[in-house]
Amino acid sequence: MTRSSITTKKLGARVGVEVLDVDVERLLHDDELAAGCVDLLEEHSVVLFRELHAGDAAQVAFSRKLGDLVQFGKYANPNVMEISFDPANPNAKYFPSNDYWHIDGSMDAVPAKTSVLSAHVITERGGETAFASTYVAYDELSAAERERFAGLRVVHRMERIQRLSYPEPTPEQLADWARWPDRVHPLVWTHESGRKSLVIGASAAHIVGLDARESRTLLDDLEQRATTPDHVLTHTWSVGDLVLWDNTGLVHRACEFDRSQPRRMHRSTVVGEESIK
Ligand code: OGA
Ligand code: MN
Repeated sequence: MTRSSITTKKLGARVGVEVLDVDVERLLHDDELAAGCVDLLEEHSVVLFRELHAGDAAQVAFSRKLGDLVQFGKYANPNVMEISFDPANPNAKYFPSNDYWHIDGSMDAVPAKTSVLSAHVITERGGETAFASTYVAYDELSAAERERFAGLRVVHRMERIQRLSYPEPTPEQLADWARWPDRVHPLVWTHESGRKSLVIGASAAHIVGLDARESRTLLDDLEQRATTPDHVLTHTWSVGDLVLWDNTGLVHRACEFDRSQPRRMHRSTVVGEESIK
């Protein structure tokens, strides 16, 4: 089936678009849809299919049209990471840090290109996912800031983001987090497209060469400006929703919910193609 016309509806002022009139059949067999989504991601950063109920097989098949998939070795289906606080979930201990603004794989040389998340079990209250564009964050810098930031490098560290959830870590936790080596990125990512974005978020530990206080003030200020409420798309999930985001030009976070209630999301992740430079 070839169908080229994609009907969309804008979601937020700066971020987000909903694709209308798509069911699982079309998701899998419309040859133009995946390419259309790539363009929509470039323009809107977040693409929503409401109440699609794709299921893992269709989610994975569609995600593969966007590129190779990250393999999650600890999961029965290595293409799908379960995001939940279920004690049986092998990554549950890391997920409290999803509450802080972040880029997926910010300690990787080549961070994921696209993340695909679907809602399977949701809570009555809270548990939204919020998104803010780091392209917009760059575009709104003053000329003087752009000049000043052009040469800056930022260290992303697992310990920095995890400590926000575990302020008094055990030696075992510290040793575990140290398995992710620090990653030094330019603060400003100049994409192959020519667009620029800020490489910020909760894993940003410090700016190379700045003293600790100045560094923290700058990183906090940049994150705060990037994520002021009028810059944020907050998605309230319905079961079956599928959301794609451009992980290269966006920070995102999970919103608070009662963790004694089950919430289960399934994520497939498209391998990055471009290193941060
Ligand atoms: C993720 C993530 C947020 C959420 O899956 O990478 O950050 O709301 N999820 O579950
Ligand atoms: Mn994430």
